Amino acid sequence: MHIIAIVNQKGGCGKTTTAINLSAALGQQDARVLLIDMDPQGHASLGLGVAGAEQAGLFELLNGERRLEEVIKSGVTRGVDLIPGNISLAAAEHLLAEQPDRDRLLARHLATLEGRYDCVVLDCPPALGLLSVNALRAADRVLIPVEPSLYALDGIERLRETIQLLAGQYDIQPSVTLLANMFDTRTRVARNMLEMLESQLPIELCATRIRNSVCVREAACHGASLSDYAPRAAVTGDFRELAEELLGSVLQRVRSEVAAAINAQPASAPAAGTAAETSNLKEVVFRFDITESKRVQIAGEFNNWIPDKNVETEIQDGSVQKILRVGPGGYEYRLIIDGVWQQDPANPDATPNQMGGYNSLLHV
Ligand SMILES: Nc1ncnc2c1ncn2[C@@H]1O[C@H](COP(=O)(O)OP(=O)(O)O)[C@@H](O)[C@H]1O
Ligand SMILES: [Mg+2]
Repeated sequence: MHIIAIVNQKGGCGKTTTAINLSAALGQQDARVLLIDMDPQGHASLGLGVAGAEQAGLFELLNGERRLEEVIKSGVTRGVDLIPGNISLAAAEHLLAEQPDRDRLLARHLATLEGRYDCVVLDCPPALGLLSVNALRAADRVLIPVEPSLYALDGIERLRETIQLLAGQYDIQPSVTLLANMFDTRTRVARNMLEMLESQLPIELCATRIRNSVCVREAACHGASLSDYAPRAAVTGDFRELAEELLGSVLQRVRSEVAAAINAQPASAPAAGTAAETSNLKEVVFRFDITESKRVQIAGEFNNWIPDKNVETEIQDGSVQKILRVGPGGYEYRLIIDGVWQQDPANPDATPNQMGGYNSLLHV
């Protein structure tokens, strides 16, 4: 189990964006990922459509109120489970300070998950307090996102010293890597910054760079990872490349495990989605006009009523497209707009449901 802490005491450099989308890129490739939201602002949870404030999360685990299994929210996006974070984490620094194991609590909990996940991603708060120290002690790798701003280099030296101090104190050797985020190498400022990062800091810089893209903010507004919201966007490809660069060996192992599992199936067993079945599937596209804050999901008989399961989402010119592939037949479905289940207002074809409302009907 590879543990990767995304750290930088500076806010706004892309920790949460990287945590969400690196996790999702790994999950898309069949890795089993646990993402932990360690920031009282709960942005990693919100960014995946989970209201951290409404449920037990990391704080309740650290104070002993809940067990690990009780705070893991499974399948927030393909392959990714989440331990949410919320404002109560602001009290975690005090709570931790009073415990004898104050900087090892997280590592202890994670050790019990060995074998259950291929990768754990820790989204740290913008401070070098006890929460971040817990993350640094648990991590095999520390990833430091930096954005091209005048102040970006401030603090990285201090962060590096802190990591070295912990490494010396506790005999841990995490590999430390910088990630250039929001870099547009066509601009001189970004090119100069990159040169500075490479020449002035004795820290390895990822070959992959994450470009600046409006899709990042849009996906966050919709509470979805880039892989779900804009699977074909260039920036989504950047995160896939990052996953391959940082965790290529983990992904390689996952691929061979998946291949071995497929080969182990008896030849007579019909595999889901065989060529004949696949060729029968029809692509259905739903198009919705959206305003910034609206999040639209779709659930129905075609995806076991699990919102957006097996549904591709694409955003184009202010409209959201939901694309699904289903065999011929009739299907009941509903839309979930900003968390509220409802009948599709654009489809007059509907049938009464058991809850006293209406389900929309799709004919393929
Ligand atoms: N590559 C990117 N392109 C465009 N916007 C980005 C990118 N990375 C981050 N952002 C935006 O910058 C802001 C800060 O990013 P965030 O990941 O929340 O940083 P942090 O967790 O370090 O505070 C967010 O509004 C986010 O949507
Ligand atoms: Mg953040």
